[in-house]
Amino acid sequence: MNSRVINVLVTRDIPEIGVEMLRKEGFNVTVMGYDKPLTAEELKDAALKNNALLCLSADKINASFLKECKHLEVISQFAVGYDNVDVAEATKLGIPVGNTPEVLSDATADIAFGLMMAVSRKFFHLHKTIAKGEWSYFQPKKNLGIELKNKTLGIFGLGRIGIEMAKRCKGAYNMSVIYHNRNRNENAEKELNAKWVSFDELLQQSDVLSVHSVLSEETKGIFNTNTFGKMKSNAIFINTSRGGVHNEPDLIEALNSKIIWGAGLDVTNPEPMRADNPLLSMENVAVLPHIGSGTVEARNAMSQLAAENIIEFYRNGTLPHCLNREVLKK
Ligand code: GLV
Repeated sequence: MNSRVINVLVTRDIPEIGVEMLRKEGFNVTVMGYDKPLTAEELKDAALKNNALLCLSADKINASFLKECKHLEVISQFAVGYDNVDVAEATKLGIPVGNTPEVLSDATADIAFGLMMAVSRKFFHLHKTIAKGEWSYFQPKKNLGIELKNKTLGIFGLGRIGIEMAKRCKGAYNMSVIYHNRNRNENAEKELNAKWVSFDELLQQSDVLSVHSVLSEETKGIFNTNTFGKMKSNAIFINTSRGGVHNEPDLIEALNSKIIWGAGLDVTNPEPMRADNPLLSMENVAVLPHIGSGTVEARNAMSQLAAENIIEFYRNGTLPHCLNREVLKK
């Protein structure tokens, strides 16, 4: 490594492995060990004293932050999603931005698959009834779920996580896979016999519609009264990507008026969800607190990748996972 002291700010207490890698490489690392995200002011004050930033999704790396912190040499996000980072602005300022794809695909697909099952058989609701002392006699016509075998899985945004979800659904339930992406995913078409459909066809044909897209201007609020209205009345909506992709009041309304059958969410809008949110008391809804990547294996690997992005940048000017390669010197 070069001989100057390089200060790295890690905005939350992430798994040790990445922090140790950075320290071993000779960086001067400051870990902000709080249990909640830094305020914009705290983030800026801390970033001003550092050369590199290892941040999380709750940190707003927006244009105003970047303009005040244009001294930053590299930004490494501990997440695959990066809607909190203004990558275009970072690119203008010549700051490379890295993220942590792939290592969390299995963990996140497990959550999408688990939510789908939980909703189809009302797991969360039934668990609550037992806790309330309401488990009585066998009820032949009550608490009935719906089966998933041979149904159609629709994926909105078929990338690495969507592919893992599709594999699980195909393997477990022989589900047929349709998907909607801006670009076709030929690998998935070959491997999973997945079929590209228009967005309207995805809405109309899916029995389970699972969201795996990024949050962008194009996808923000794309699941709303109008689009829920085109879905099947027995459809299950799953979102494990970003809460901003669905409009939450519209989802509540679609479930209340039985426009769709159920919903499983690992991401909400806003986060954290309030305890009195009506979704939490609906029978056909399962909500988790954004734990898609929450396994020991995935979080350790994310920590490692986030550190590698910084280490490799200072070693040889590249990041293994870079969102704006154009700023790297050739
Ligand atoms: C988690 O939400 C991630 O983007 O990694």
